[in-house]
Amino acid sequence: MATDVLLRPAIEADAARVATIWQSGWHDGHVGHVPDELVAARTTASFTTRAASMIHDTAVAEINGLVVGFVTVVDDEVEQVYLAGDHRGAGIADMLLDEAERRVCANGHRSAWLAVVSGNARARAFYERRGWRDDGPFSYEAAAEPMPVAVMCQRYRKLVN
Ligand SMILES: CC(C)(COP(=O)(O)OP(=O)(O)OC[C@H]1O[C@@H](n2cnc3c(N)ncnc32)[C@H](O)[C@@H]1OP(=O)(O)O)[C@@H](O)C(=O)NCCC(=O)NCCS
Repeated sequence: MATDVLLRPAIEADAARVATIWQSGWHDGHVGHVPDELVAARTTASFTTRAASMIHDTAVAEINGLVVGFVTVVDDEVEQVYLAGDHRGAGIADMLLDEAERRVCANGHRSAWLAVVSGNARARAFYERRGWRDDGPFSYEAAAEPMPVAVMCQRYRKLVN
């Protein structure tokens, strides 16, 4: 299990680092599994803008003062779970998902959900190891400019209290 990891609420000064981790991890988990229009829409500027807009719903994992991952929760949805590439497989994602589940519970919900792109095998294996249940495929309208893009995803759910 990871040691020397500090989990804390994100602050505005974290947004640029969160955007960097998000952009890189998004490419790792999505390219080849989502339509090309969505890849084209996910520019550096789009991650910068979106990271800043959701920073108050985000917790970060930090090692020696460097943010290495983050999780974003809105209501009962775990919207984002991302780790920098060189920190995967070290138990830090477990800490982030624990925090996400606590946040859903604190938001007054007994059940959490998330959407994961169907082809993102590593993320799906991670959620399944953590006791999340695959409720099956659905078409997710991913927000994008100039228009939303339909993406084949799996809906996962877990009881959190
Ligand atoms: C998803 C993510 C947060 C998980 O964190 P992690 O530290 O990599 O997770 P773990 O290593 O604990 O678990 C991943 C599991 O997938 C397995 N795995 C690795 N590569 C795999 C692959 N190509 N196919 C299937 N399973 C794979 C690992 O063996 C591990 O399973 P195990 O614990 O039973 O051995 C991290 O990989 C990440 O940031 N990915 C890029 C961003 C992303 O896809 N985020 C999720 C968006 S919904």
